[in-house]
Amino acid sequence: MTDSQGRTVRDLRLSVTDRCNYRCVYCMHAGLQYMPGRHLLSLNEYLRVARVCASLGIEKIRITGGEPTLYPQLDELIRELGRLPVKDIAMTTNGSRLEEGALVRWRDRGLKRLTLSLNSLRPERMTSITRSESSPQTVINAIGLARQLGYHPIKVNCVVRRGMNEDEIADFAHLAREHGIEVRLIEFMPLDSERRWSPEEVVPADEMIRLLRQHYELIPIEADDPHGKAVTFHFADDSPGRIGIIASVTRPFCGDCNRLRITADGRIRPCLFSDREWDLRPILRNGADDERLRRVIIDAAWAKPAGHEINSPSFTPPDRTMSAIGG
Ligand code: 5AD
Ligand code: SF4
Repeated sequence: MTDSQGRTVRDLRLSVTDRCNYRCVYCMHAGLQYMPGRHLLSLNEYLRVARVCASLGIEKIRITGGEPTLYPQLDELIRELGRLPVKDIAMTTNGSRLEEGALVRWRDRGLKRLTLSLNSLRPERMTSITRSESSPQTVINAIGLARQLGYHPIKVNCVVRRGMNEDEIADFAHLAREHGIEVRLIEFMPLDSERRWSPEEVVPADEMIRLLRQHYELIPIEADDPHGKAVTFHFADDSPGRIGIIASVTRPFCGDCNRLRITADGRIRPCLFSDREWDLRPILRNGADDERLRRVIIDAAWAKPAGHEINSPSFTPPDRTMSAIGG
């Protein structure tokens, strides 16, 4: 499946719920309304979309949300995705609800990689960022458990926003070293439902790297995945762990983007920052055959925009927040 820019689409992000037990300030506003349940796809509908995508050359599937562990049929979903002819299944979660039994089942059914979100290592700050009773220790315990169970690689996503947590960047590097994981520092993107994003709140990648280098000597790693969006570093003293910097705002990687997103309510979204979507729900629910579904997915992929315009003066943030698109 290629787009009009010559990029081959291989990576599918499947959002299975817009619900979340957190309300992160950079994502949802406190009163955000969820989509009506009947708008969300059923297990069979998600699986049908995933199957057709796999037949079109999708190689990686990442399960996202909202918070995917709130999706009641996650076990069945992972089991069935594990039977598809794709190379890799991963999940992004806030890490607050990971239990050993479930992690074992998912691993045995083919989930290989986990990305956990963590934006502060300070308990009170984490509570105020997530507006919930969450604690950094819960996520750190989940990292330890997932490691023991053989998940690899384990990544931690940390959205860095000016005035929120940029003073913790070095502590996050320490976390990466201590646990031998990749911490990804993400530039704050205009996807917050409060519409508070402004360029001044972005901590640019260059600044993050400068801050890190005050504490650690970093060596850039040649990209092992040319479509990976992070600039990655390891530590010069050979300690385990890596740092990835996701500079969507200051160093857009649109030219290498090979992703397609499916929202929890069944819309194909070829770009995070473009509101153009292709609605699969009516097609799934009116008895259309797989060929019709294939055509729409191919059309949506073809129309993937060349890039985003965040840095242009006329940029307007997209209507949907990250929780409603899937990260
Ligand atoms: N900017 C950057 N990253 C964001 N995420 C959610 N909202 C934003 C935003 N406005 C991240 C989450 C999660 C991933 C799916 O997307 O922290 O790690
Ligand atoms: Fe939930 Fe993730 Fe959004 Fe936070 S960023 S509110 S954890 S969906």
